[in-house]
Amino acid sequence: MPLKLTVIGTGYLGATHAAAMAELGFEVLGLDIEPRKVEMLSQGRVPMYEPGLEEMLARHVAGLDGSSGRLRFTTSWEEIAEFGDVHFVCVNTPQKHGEYACDMSYVDRAFALLAPHLRRPALVVGKSTVPVGSAARLAATLAELAPAGEDAELAWNPEFLREGFAVQDTLHPDRIVVGVTSEHAESLLREVYATPLSEGTPFVVADYPTAELVKTAANAFLATKISFINAMAEVSEAAGGDVVKLAEAIGHDDRIGHKFLRAGIGFGGGCLPKDIRAFMARAGELGADQALTFLREVDSINMRRRTHMVELARDAVGGGFLGKRIAVLGASFKPDSDDVRDSPALNVAGQIHLQGGQVTVYDPKGMDNARRLFPTLGYAPTPVDAVRGADIVLHLTEWREFRELDPEALAEVTGRRLILDGRNALDPALWRKAGWTFRAMGRPAA
Ligand code: UDX
Repeated sequence: MPLKLTVIGTGYLGATHAAAMAELGFEVLGLDIEPRKVEMLSQGRVPMYEPGLEEMLARHVAGLDGSSGRLRFTTSWEEIAEFGDVHFVCVNTPQKHGEYACDMSYVDRAFALLAPHLRRPALVVGKSTVPVGSAARLAATLAELAPAGEDAELAWNPEFLREGFAVQDTLHPDRIVVGVTSEHAESLLREVYATPLSEGTPFVVADYPTAELVKTAANAFLATKISFINAMAEVSEAAGGDVVKLAEAIGHDDRIGHKFLRAGIGFGGGCLPKDIRAFMARAGELGADQALTFLREVDSINMRRRTHMVELARDAVGGGFLGKRIAVLGASFKPDSDDVRDSPALNVAGQIHLQGGQVTVYDPKGMDNARRLFPTLGYAPTPVDAVRGADIVLHLTEWREFRELDPEALAEVTGRRLILDGRNALDPALWRKAGWTFRAMGRPAA
């Protein structure tokens, strides 16, 4: 009998994981505490923009035309406990209000609500990003609350998916990491991931704390890499150098590599910022805070980028935003996503608005979310409408659509031909040829 899987929490991680497991051939039951989400997913629709996800979901949701019928959703804990051999916990762990630490209440609640219904052998697999030490604590909760006793086991299996590539990253991960305390748990997870394993995906077996740490360490490294190149951008700017050339040159050393060396307004989103903060907070609790004080610097370099972008824009329009029209291209925290959580682009737009600028934002997918978060900004239906009459254009999220814009056509409608590239993704030569004054972060003026 093939394993039956459940997925608890149907946000980014859970919705993608549930659909991907159905795609791999498993019967899957997803749970969310929000009936609205369950209803939407049951109709084959996802509450966010993620390339390929809705299509994959629709291929499997029971009751939809031509679907495999392997995927269903519910709000009932009893039903999933009854159904599943393996339960994936995919609820979110946001930053606590007013603190660096992460809020474990959703994870804790999921375990508290699931465990009392576990009457038959089951493997509960945590995927949420949690402070190290959580798995050991949650294993004790399971042992205490599950009627199945020792037959209800815990494993930790961190998730590394990137927004915008969630489907591909879930179906073909670059590694699978599992924290387990028994061979039984390991073999169940090998069964779940048999397809990617057969494609050669490395399978790393570890203890709980190591598996938990792998995730936070990976995100801390990525954040550090971005802040490193942004620090080089600051120095390049001061010295009259070009950080894009510098990144290209150091990237040829394959110990350094080219990836994650794009200088600009820095990282945002629902993961990197809160994960490095939670990591620092947890290290502090463990008495290892000195080891991670460098992450405080990584965080402040990153946050400085946003202010620096605002300053560059203010200087470029003559020292003040009052009465100036600012076109902002980009609202989501990265391209191919409608996610605006801690988005550097929207942060910059918001700061300029608060300093009296008239900001008009355009984003290919993030408009609805941006409007909800910053209802007082202006929004335009196309890039041309955003740029019309502008005193300055800011390129703040590197969507392909923006690289394909025609600088000649925009030159016709803009007030001033002045553009700042906050992502180092546009071709300066092209814009300058069309008569624009083009400035980018960490690059020489002309
Ligand atoms: C990240 C991790 O990459 C992923 O493995 C983890 O599971 C979740 O967190 P994600 O939040 O989707 O994924 O975004 P990512 O692609 O890492 O980008 C994060 C931010 O860094 C974005 O705002 C992006 O614009 C910025 N970035 C990225 C740069 O500023 N420069 C770069 O060179 C790369």
